[in-house]
Amino acid sequence: MIPYQTEPLTDFSLEENRKLYKEALAKAQQELGQDYPLIIGGERITTNDKIVSYNPANKTEIIGSVSKANQELAEQAMQAADSTFNTWKNVDPAVRADIIFKLAAIVKRRKFEFNAWLTLESGKPWVEADADTAEAIDFFEYYARQMLELAAGKPVVSRPGEFNRFGYIPLGVGVIISPWNFPFAIMAGTAIAAAVTGNTVLLKPASTTPVIAYKFMEALEEAGLPAGVVNYIPGSGAEVGDYLVDHARTRFVSFTGSRDVGLRINERAAKVNPGQIWIKRVIAEMGGKDTIVVDAEADHELAAQAIVKSAFGFSGQKCSACSRVIVVDSAYDKVLNRVVELTKELTIGDPTNPDNFMATVIDAAAFKKVTSYFDIAKEEGRIAVGGTADDSKGYFVNPTVVADVAPKSRVMQEEIFGPIVAFCKASDFDEAIAIANNTEYGLTGAVITTNPLHIEQARRDFFVGNLYFNRGCTGAIVGYQPFGGYNMSGTCSKAGGPDYLTLHMQSKTTSETF
Ligand code: NAD
Ligand code: ALA
Repeated sequence: MIPYQTEPLTDFSLEENRKLYKEALAKAQQELGQDYPLIIGGERITTNDKIVSYNPANKTEIIGSVSKANQELAEQAMQAADSTFNTWKNVDPAVRADIIFKLAAIVKRRKFEFNAWLTLESGKPWVEADADTAEAIDFFEYYARQMLELAAGKPVVSRPGEFNRFGYIPLGVGVIISPWNFPFAIMAGTAIAAAVTGNTVLLKPASTTPVIAYKFMEALEEAGLPAGVVNYIPGSGAEVGDYLVDHARTRFVSFTGSRDVGLRINERAAKVNPGQIWIKRVIAEMGGKDTIVVDAEADHELAAQAIVKSAFGFSGQKCSACSRVIVVDSAYDKVLNRVVELTKELTIGDPTNPDNFMATVIDAAAFKKVTSYFDIAKEEGRIAVGGTADDSKGYFVNPTVVADVAPKSRVMQEEIFGPIVAFCKASDFDEAIAIANNTEYGLTGAVITTNPLHIEQARRDFFVGNLYFNRGCTGAIVGYQPFGGYNMSGTCSKAGGPDYLTLHMQSKTTSETF
């Protein structure tokens, strides 16, 4: 077996790759506006009620109309998943892994097609869409290999006349609820982690990005995944989401999304309903308010470059995005001024044009929420660049730097989830770390410093699940930087890490005497 390594990103300086992307975009554009059914137990079911997915960069353009599950269809999907579990759980883990290796090969072959749909449905510029598809492939390749390792169980000790074993078995039906900001990688990664470990899945993708999830379902069928293992049921979070989270046959919920929805799911899943004979497991990966700390002793050009990329890549719509910067006193003006200069150079526009670094936020609600922070920013500090937006064609928000804010200001505390980054001054490195830790989140962070003692201090004291030194705070790679945060950022499941799959399984000890 070839050892796991991350999928390389596409080199868009090569004309051949630019041509392939443009051809894939043209093909996807010809297929816009189609209807997509639900897939329950392998059966395609069309409903009258639809979720309509729009292009955020061209807000009247319909990407696709997707059938919408209601509670009755959610129940049908639960029954399909529950009965399929009886067979899927007994399929040899090596066979399950093989299907996922095939899935990875299919997605690699169809990479430009997936990239194109990501660009059109979620507004991801080329580089971001390509990274999303590469991350999905990484999840498939990594989790399939992890499953092969786990299938052997873990060593335990036996005494003479005794044979002890320790291994893992699947849990049951898992409800997978995914966000729109990594509409391929997180949606598919969480679904595959559940399926490769022998569980069956009810997949409820985000309502703004259901078409990309349908394309994933097609790839799963092509890879030979048996019907009923992954069931595709887009629907309202409140209606279908609550129904399935509450369901007595739901064995676990794997959620990625906002803090408020995650907490609601956690609370509801804790209640034991009639007929339920287990405690549901909840994996909940939630929001972030991620900080880059810049020391006085540091490469300040590197700091500015890292801040701009981490704050404004995909318009700041990453849970890992840098939304707060804390600079030690003497370096503050230099770093702030350079970030402002670099921000002014960013190109913003239609994501189908590869020359654009940034495009839109996801929809009208996000546009309203993100732009509402302009006034708050003016009250709490000073807008050094940006503070403008235009939703006449798509939901374009310009990259915005807010200077001179206090540590406890709203722009330093609340997850805005858009291209707005706040700057705050600290008197020394100790204070910088204290301010970095003063949010309720704890997902990612970065420290830019040339002082080795400060690196060790931050390694010990900066309380985030993913801490980076002398680089930005986005871009964790599956198998290299397992991803997940502390406090209100979630249950720290560490997606893409060596412990992740066991969260979808229960261990079994057997002891035989002879
Ligand atoms: P969201 O919480 O609004 O929605 C996430 C999913 O939950 C969607 O599929 C939605 O339909 C569903 N949902 C909504 N209400 C529900 C309910 N009552 N019951 C069940 N499901 C329900 O989040 P979003 O806007 O899609 O994504 C952005 C958020 O996700 C940000 O807060 C971001 O930080 C977070 N995020 C976290 C990570 C991470 O790994 N920690 C990764 C990506 C995104
Ligand atoms: N894996 C994504 C990142 O680290 C969430 O930016």
